[in-house]
Amino acid sequence: MTEVAVFGYGTVGSGVVEVIEKNAEPIASRGEGLHVKYILDLRDFPGDPYADRVTHDADVIYGDPEIKVICETMGGATFAYDYTKRALSAGISVCTSNKELVELHGAELYRLAKENNCSYLFEASVGGGIPLIRTITQALTAERIERICGILNGTTNYILDRMEKAGLDFATALKEAQELGYAEKDPTADIDAHDPCRKIAILTSLVSGKKTDYSDIPMEGIRDISLNDLAYAWMLGGTVKLIAMSEFDKDGCRAIVSPRVIKRDNPLFAVNSVFNAVLIHSDMLDDSMYYGRGAGKLATASAVVGDAIECARNAGRTIECGWSEEKLVLADASGMKQSYLLRLKKSALPKLEERIAIEEKLEPTEEFLREHGLDPKDFADEMAVVSGEMSEKEWKEKIAGVDGVIRYIRM
Ligand code: NDP
Ligand code: HSE
Repeated sequence: MTEVAVFGYGTVGSGVVEVIEKNAEPIASRGEGLHVKYILDLRDFPGDPYADRVTHDADVIYGDPEIKVICETMGGATFAYDYTKRALSAGISVCTSNKELVELHGAELYRLAKENNCSYLFEASVGGGIPLIRTITQALTAERIERICGILNGTTNYILDRMEKAGLDFATALKEAQELGYAEKDPTADIDAHDPCRKIAILTSLVSGKKTDYSDIPMEGIRDISLNDLAYAWMLGGTVKLIAMSEFDKDGCRAIVSPRVIKRDNPLFAVNSVFNAVLIHSDMLDDSMYYGRGAGKLATASAVVGDAIECARNAGRTIECGWSEEKLVLADASGMKQSYLLRLKKSALPKLEERIAIEEKLEPTEEFLREHGLDPKDFADEMAVVSGEMSEKEWKEKIAGVDGVIRYIRM
């Protein structure tokens, strides 16, 4: 039996205890069993079945030689960072769902684990319960990964889905997501794309083996996405999703997080509600896709516990992920090639046609607008066009100075 401590008894931490207790039998059959000896939290939990295991004193846990694994589910990059360093320095393995800490200090903490013959595992930090980290660091190690493209934030996927399916505007869909407990009270990290940006930074680090700083990755959230944007995407047989992407080629790696028009033939089109999915393109396997619950108590906790089982099975050694502290210098994302859906005033079309080859012009009919419950007044003097493929640098040069450009969405 491996003794475990859970740091942070909130949504995920209480899920970790629940998974270990409820699935004690299958867990034990797969190696050594796990037992939660301590729960560290700031509060007491009177009436909770595990209230007697709660402590506020981390020293009690570090002073107990039986503790071999800590599940860090408290979040943040201050206390969690100190607690994790202290554990790894003492040879105690740490498993976490804390993407903020992993993005910021993951490479250093992994080195610390190696120096002390224990492990730092963070499967739950990207894609919640979807096994993505292990897929990249263990299953696809014979592959050259050329592209990762995915929906890595459940809250924004839910909001966009509700805008599409129920015709809600952004503010109403956000309020609904908050009421359902998907979006946080301060939803900035989700809707302004910091959260999926951290996640793609972690995946990019693991593919490149170098430290990728999320602040180097251009990101654009969904705050400004309107029903007008969605209407033109629908006319193309698509929708708009918040996509995190990184591409690896001879020029290095480019990464970006932004809303994109996703057409029906793209497998990500069918990823709805709070679900996450990641498409990986690699040279031998070609496309592979990973889909599931990217958040939520038990889905996320399952990934943390899966890591704890791996740590128990590999006691006294480090589970490798090949992540160095050398910084990855990203290539300029404006070199990425794609086509663009551009909304513009009708009066801007002649000028635009002088500058770019337009592949498709979109003007919704009254019937289309009525069918989708949209107000024709909102579309009175605007239209949209689809461009050919070009780099973003070239695209921006071409549309610069054209009066009447409303906004563009990458495709
Ligand atoms: P919660 O806020 O629900 O839980 C965190 C718990 O840790 C709270 O009980 C909190 O206490 C406690 N805590 C905070 N600081 C300390 C401290 N210094 N010492 C002891 N206890 C502390 O967060 P979640 O469970 O939702 O998230 C935990 C981590 O998992 C975060 O990094 C999050 O980003 C990540 N994550 C969450 C997912 C989800 O679906 N919820 C999915 C994937 C990842 P108090 O409430 O008193 O502050
Ligand atoms: N806020 C995140 C999301 C939680 O909505 O996907 C999981 O990391």
